[in-house]
Amino acid sequence: MGKNWFSRWVFMAMMMSTIFWYVEGLGVNWGTQATHPLKPDTVVQMLKDNGIQKVKLFDADEETMSALGGSGIEVMVAIPNNQLAEMSDYDRALQWVRKNVTRYNFKSGGVNIKYVAVGNEPFLKAYNNSFLNVTFPALMNIQNALNQVGLGDSIKATVPLNADVYESPDSNNAVPSAGIFRPDLSELMTQIVQFLSKNNAPFTVNIYPFLSLYGNDNFPFDYAFFDGVSNPINDNGVLYTNVFDANFDTLVSALKSIGFGNMPIFVGEVGWPTDGDKNANIQNALRFYNGLLPRLASNKGTPRRQGYIEVYLFGLIDEDAKSIEPGNFERHWGIFSFDGKPKFPMHVSNQHGQNKLLVGAKDVHYLDPKWCMFNPNANNLSNLADNINYACTFADCTPLGYGSSCNNLDANGNASYAFNMYYQVQNQNDLACNFEG
Ligand SMILES: *[C@@H]1O[C@H](CO)[C@@H](O)[C@H](O)[C@H]1NC(C)=O
Ligand SMILES: *[C@@H]1O[C@H](CO)[C@@H](O)[C@H](O)[C@H]1NC(C)=O
Ligand SMILES: *[C@@H]1O[C@H](CO)[C@@H](O)[C@H](O)[C@H]1NC(C)=O
Ligand SMILES: *[C@@H]1O[C@H](CO)[C@@H](O)[C@H](O)[C@H]1NC(C)=O
Ligand SMILES: *[C@@H]1O[C@H](CO)[C@@H](O)[C@H](O)[C@H]1NC(C)=O
Repeated sequence: MGKNWFSRWVFMAMMMSTIFWYVEGLGVNWGTQATHPLKPDTVVQMLKDNGIQKVKLFDADEETMSALGGSGIEVMVAIPNNQLAEMSDYDRALQWVRKNVTRYNFKSGGVNIKYVAVGNEPFLKAYNNSFLNVTFPALMNIQNALNQVGLGDSIKATVPLNADVYESPDSNNAVPSAGIFRPDLSELMTQIVQFLSKNNAPFTVNIYPFLSLYGNDNFPFDYAFFDGVSNPINDNGVLYTNVFDANFDTLVSALKSIGFGNMPIFVGEVGWPTDGDKNANIQNALRFYNGLLPRLASNKGTPRRQGYIEVYLFGLIDEDAKSIEPGNFERHWGIFSFDGKPKFPMHVSNQHGQNKLLVGAKDVHYLDPKWCMFNPNANNLSNLADNINYACTFADCTPLGYGSSCNNLDANGNASYAFNMYYQVQNQNDLACNFEG
């Protein structure tokens, strides 16, 4: 930190203002778990204004799909984990495909659907194997249904997986070339990969260098970024200087180990959060993207997989109603804040040959500029802590936590923050700014 950090930041700021990267075909994840989501039409216009041509969704919401209609934007629609079990029934899967794919598949004004994401990280350890037995049947049924309705050539089903479905087993020498699928999943993963391959569908994986750092203070900090480390990992002569490449190549090796070393790989999610943890801030996010985007633009790939990588950034907009079970940072992954304002001067694409920075959403409607504040002279403050807890259960208080952007507020400031967030979430209803006086 200190001076060194500051000069590095200035250096990056200069890079940001002078160098632009054209990342061909860069996609974004559009999640909508927010208390005041932007209107789908507003978001689609924002995507167009920024030249973003690919979007990955977490469902197939009707309003979102109609907003995307006619935009030409390539879309990955999704089946949430809690619908996977139903999709083990072929007729149910066919019904889903008819309602959420075929219905939008027409030439003029239709939605340019290219992929169906079957589940979202269904084998995450936190799910206690709940989706272990339903994911593969759902994948098969959805692809077979797509094939049956005649769309199988142009629309592929895939399963966005968390990166811990594979590993490099020797923790003392975790080199990418030793990558294999996790032993408890290897039979299932082999079946899934065989099926994807048979249908020319991609393997989709979410890779999060931020999570490598989170909760592991021994993780070499610089290895999460792309600007070099003093001790690269030496994998039989191939030097790895960042965890993104190492993780991606561990997957390449795992696929190779079961005979599918050339299977196309999509990075379904990658990004950096800007609040809710000591490492989640604008500076680190900028450093991360400032390394990731030129790499993608160069199309040089990783040591084991040269060339273009299809990537979807996570995510488009902050989502203040997401579960914070993974951590307080979970609501702060957007490259845009909740109201569609760019968080930093980032360049994601090159529309009509022009270089431009991110542009914000237009025609955003805000609530009135008024706030709820703590009254330190209230006559009975004995329930204050409970009231703050209540407010923070239904509104987002994650910026107050350790290492977060508002962690330096005093006790009164904390109370005001909590009460105000609740008041705004409740659309400024007077009753939502009472809290026993
Ligand atoms: C279509 O997708 C929506 C949104 O994800 C979902 O609620 C609905 O159940 C799906 N329709 C069918 C027929 O499965
Ligand atoms: C998984 O198991 C743990 C420990 O038994 C439990 O606390 C947690 O709620 C479970 N999660 C799910 C999604 O079932
Ligand atoms: C999945 O199937 C296996 C083998 O049939 C069974 O032992 C296990 O209990 C099932 N898991 C769940 C979550 O249903
Ligand atoms: C303050 O409120 C608490 C909880 O409602 C109550 O038990 C206490 O008697 C009140 N104190 C005064 C001075 O009114
Ligand atoms: C404000 O709230 C945060 C989060 O709960 C807590 O860590 C911090 O200690 C509080 N500050 C004061 C002065 O009470």
